[in-house]
Amino acid sequence: MSDIIQTSRRQLRFHILRYNPQDESSTPHMQTFELEEADGLTLFVALNEIREQHDASLCFDFVCRAGICGSCAMLVNGQPALACRTLTKNLREDITLTPLPVFKLIADLSVDTGTWMRDMSERLQTWVHNEGSEVDINALEQRMEPELAREIYELERCIECGCCIAACGTAHMRDDFVGAVGLLKIARFKLDPRDEREDANFYELVGDESGVFGCMTLLGCEDMCPKELPLASQIAYLRRKMASQGIKGG
Ligand code: SF4
Ligand code: F3S
Ligand code: FES
Repeated sequence: MSDIIQTSRRQLRFHILRYNPQDESSTPHMQTFELEEADGLTLFVALNEIREQHDASLCFDFVCRAGICGSCAMLVNGQPALACRTLTKNLREDITLTPLPVFKLIADLSVDTGTWMRDMSERLQTWVHNEGSEVDINALEQRMEPELAREIYELERCIECGCCIAACGTAHMRDDFVGAVGLLKIARFKLDPRDEREDANFYELVGDESGVFGCMTLLGCEDMCPKELPLASQIAYLRRKMASQGIKGG
């Protein structure tokens, strides 16, 4: 009698949207690839195996493979997720992969989130504004209370993956909506004592339907954020502050 225990591995079927808008002969269609599941298989590894073994032309984005760069976000069975942090063992055998909506499609599963994020950042001026201060390179760094530093750090953990945008009904309907990621950045800089902007400056940037008042509290953003950022509470906080100052959007 052999002591070897036979474990049957699942045969996974990946249904992937194929389309290259740069190629006039390309039309959107689903293509299926089969792969035997290995222990600890992630979508990142699976996609690389598919590219190596089946189709070298398959396009998708990865940089860090560790949930840090935000470039591997895609729709996994219809829900935004980071491919490098998604284990196939938590998915059914048939796995559908499509590119994130809202962002410009490059090809297959690759989208251009960078241009969207840069435009949003420029529009919301997401950097510390302290133009009035003299910069003294010999001065000690400004002290900040640890609790406040922690609060700012918490909001800094955004990796600009775009999952909150893909999961948001308003972002699907309004091109100009800054999304949960944009509102999170406003909350982050509003909290920062080094930023000399008045509250009114922040409210001017997001006090309309393309900002706080476009949010319909659908909560998909927070549900799908891979960094589990407190998006809904930050948006609610901004809305309450604006309402208390008589700003109601519209
Ligand atoms: Fe991604 Fe979350 Fe940042 Fe949105 S807020 S871009 S989901 S990390
Ligand atoms: Fe969209 Fe999140 Fe608001 S999903 S509608 S930004 S709560
Ligand atoms: Fe960087 Fe997935 S490859 S977050």
